[in-house]
Amino acid sequence: MIIAIDGFSAAGKGTLAQRLADYLNYAYLDTGALYRTVGLKLYENKQNPTDIKAAQKAAFELKEEEILSLQTNPAIRTEEIGTYASKIAPIPEIRQALLEFQRKFAFHPRFKDGTPAPGAVLDGRDIGTVVCPEAKIKLFLKARSEVRATRRLKDLQLRGFYAIYDTVLSDINKRDESDSQRGLSPLKPAPDALVIDTSEMTQDDVFAAAIDFIKGKGFI
Ligand code: DC
Repeated sequence: MIIAIDGFSAAGKGTLAQRLADYLNYAYLDTGALYRTVGLKLYENKQNPTDIKAAQKAAFELKEEEILSLQTNPAIRTEEIGTYASKIAPIPEIRQALLEFQRKFAFHPRFKDGTPAPGAVLDGRDIGTVVCPEAKIKLFLKARSEVRATRRLKDLQLRGFYAIYDTVLSDINKRDESDSQRGLSPLKPAPDALVIDTSEMTQDDVFAAAIDFIKGKGFI
């Protein structure tokens, strides 16, 4: 059982994905963390995110255990690393290198301690369209960019980062553009995805809408 959650940056994918995974006792993979991890490696090595060879090397060298533990590493959550990630995300060789890992996780999900899980929740930009088009449950989250900027700002401040609303909003707009306009695996809802606009919804509302959809499909 695979649940694919795609959508715009800061639309609430991660929160929903983690909550569904906890509720259903499924394993969770934040695929943005893969791109961010490659971004962090380049940043630490003072390499340019447009350096295809360096990015490819960093992507191929990623180990499964490293990826799962890096998901919770605060160093990959900065705006700077997010920008690095969005710059390497359009590179076909990078997407290809990370695709196999994501599909393996989706079809043989495991919890962090290595035990097999009965299902997987993956969130990202192309899970329902490219990584797991066979997923039975596909959700696509969107929200107005001003709402997303406010949420991202709050989140950054809570984690102790200094951030300015206008800069966060402009980063979100740039990120939306590069995620949706790129030629390969652009961000767009799969035809069979439930599209949820979370602008006026609480996290509980979004979770309830997702559960209703899953129940409606007869999976729980
Ligand atoms: O969701 P996020 O902000 O952690 O993602 C960071 C970047 O990675 C984002 O700009 C888009 C890219 N990404 C992608 O291209 N495909 C995915 N499946 C996940 C993330």
